[in-house]
Amino acid sequence: MRHAYCGQPTMAKRLLASLLLVALGSGTVVAMATDQGFSRGMVVSSSEEASQVGQDILKNGGNAVDAAVAVGFALAVTYPEAGNLGGGGFAVVRTPKNQIVTLDHRERAPLKARPDMFLAEDGTLDADLSLESHLASGTPGTVDGLLALHERFGRLSRRAVMAPAIALAEEGFKLNPILAGRIQALLPELSVRPASRTKFTHNGNAMAPGHRWRQPDLAKTLRRIADEGRAGFYQGPVAKMLVAEMIRGKGLIEQADLDAYRSIWREPIHGRYRGHDIYSMAPPSSGGILLVQMLNMLSLYPISNWGPGSTAQHHLMIEVARRAYADRAEHLGDADFYPVPVEKLLDKSYARDRIAGFDPMRATPSRSVRHGSFNESPQTTHYSVIDADGMMVALTTTLNSSFGNKWVVAGAGFLLNNEMDDFAASDSEANQYGLLGSVANAIAPGKRMLSSMTPTLVLKSGEPVLITGSPGGSTIITTVLQVILNVLDHGMTGVAAVNAPRLHHQWQPDTVMHEPNALSQTSADTLRSKGHQLTEVEVIGDANSIWIKEGRFYGAKDPREPGAAVGW
Ligand code: GLY
Repeated sequence: MRHAYCGQPTMAKRLLASLLLVALGSGTVVAMATDQGFSRGMVVSSSEEASQVGQDILKNGGNAVDAAVAVGFALAVTYPEAGNLGGGGFAVVRTPKNQIVTLDHRERAPLKARPDMFLAEDGTLDADLSLESHLASGTPGTVDGLLALHERFGRLSRRAVMAPAIALAEEGFKLNPILAGRIQALLPELSVRPASRTKFTHNGNAMAPGHRWRQPDLAKTLRRIADEGRAGFYQGPVAKMLVAEMIRGKGLIEQADLDAYRSIWREPIHGRYRGHDIYSMAPPSSGGILLVQMLNMLSLYPISNWGPGSTAQHHLMIEVARRAYADRAEHLGDADFYPVPVEKLLDKSYARDRIAGFDPMRATPSRSVRHGSFNESPQTTHYSVIDADGMMVALTTTLNSSFGNKWVVAGAGFLLNNEMDDFAASDSEANQYGLLGSVANAIAPGKRMLSSMTPTLVLKSGEPVLITGSPGGSTIITTVLQVILNVLDHGMTGVAAVNAPRLHHQWQPDTVMHEPNALSQTSADTLRSKGHQLTEVEVIGDANSIWIKEGRFYGAKDPREPGAAVGW
């Protein structure tokens, strides 16, 4: 299996970096891991510059949504691996009046998309087409989504929330070693794409760490959006450049797709766990349903008595995930196109039935659980924001693969997504992870591809407790699950809950992915003796979270990726 985490700095280096704590004055602290609490605002993202942008917006009178929108546009400049204008995402928002809303701004299949568009004549999947070509791109949703959030809840003007991103693109920012290294590693692919070469190299050469990276075309696009709103992206010169890029690369997105795109306000997925309310994302993400389904199964067991990192918990969690991911494969897709049995999957009695065959002594082979499949992706990013009024934002956004399909729209300066690979190309052909798909997630014109993104809010008696989420494809949902268990079952602080090592199971392939330090020798031996196969991976997830305790905000920047928690 190709796993998602190659090319990233080692865990040890990142943990070392996480100990950095830089005072900036005026009560602001940039901290990758801090035990200080703050009461006026907190922003946690995988870009230090973007977190700082969010905090500045809060300080200038913006609320958490203003800050989240500003962070989203800033990430498109400073974290091009996953921050984007050409991708999509999901947001979960809690207002100061305790209203919970979610916004689906996932990409849509172009209107000319066909179910078999990635299949060669012999019926095999052409992964170059589904991942690397212009056909891989769905109609982008990010700009519509960020603007919709801002229009509904923002307090500052659109120009004010977009000004910091424009400045970062126009004036540039210093490349950190991780981003410089990632761009350098991709140079062979970026260099053969003319607009990508212009954007990601300095006259054709690799940019060194510390280089001030300016992105003038992206700055112009951002300025158009700031001046004209969604028309600045979905109509006029930027839209023309995007459509021209598609014609040049034989992609499918046309002006009709851009005209038709709208983000959608959806009912949140709600669950109850150990006296807490869990709010997360509905289809076309599988995240919320699977999270609540797994929590429902886990709630039947005395996990807190077993202790964090216990083999008993690991075994149970693996078996719970195995069953939930099998259901994902069979039942989940865009609910506007396919009858997803949401109520059934969230039903506590269904969870009881589903885990009834659990054997504390033995693994259940996945082949005996149920047949089906799903598809996933490696690079995404999650950020969390809270303000002094308790407005909470959990937002996860992506281009799918790291740097999407690596094609920059000529003249417009932004990367295209390769989200079409999140659909099931056929029911017999494996995707980039060697996994199969099903009819619930088949390609159809205008349909949204199934996601695992799980932006999540946890509240108790209406009071904020946790904002969390993660990148990591299929591992997103179990990452969020483990952060929640660590806080609610094991009483960990937010930082400890996020830093704790993780494992993951996704039904197929039938193996337990685990971080190097997630299992003791005894635990690994015991799991093997029960029949589990184990596969070590470097890291799982990047769960940038905020933990709220007695009215104070504790930023938990996941040390597995760069970035910062900035509190005020
Ligand atoms: N593209 C990753 C996901 O949506 O799950």
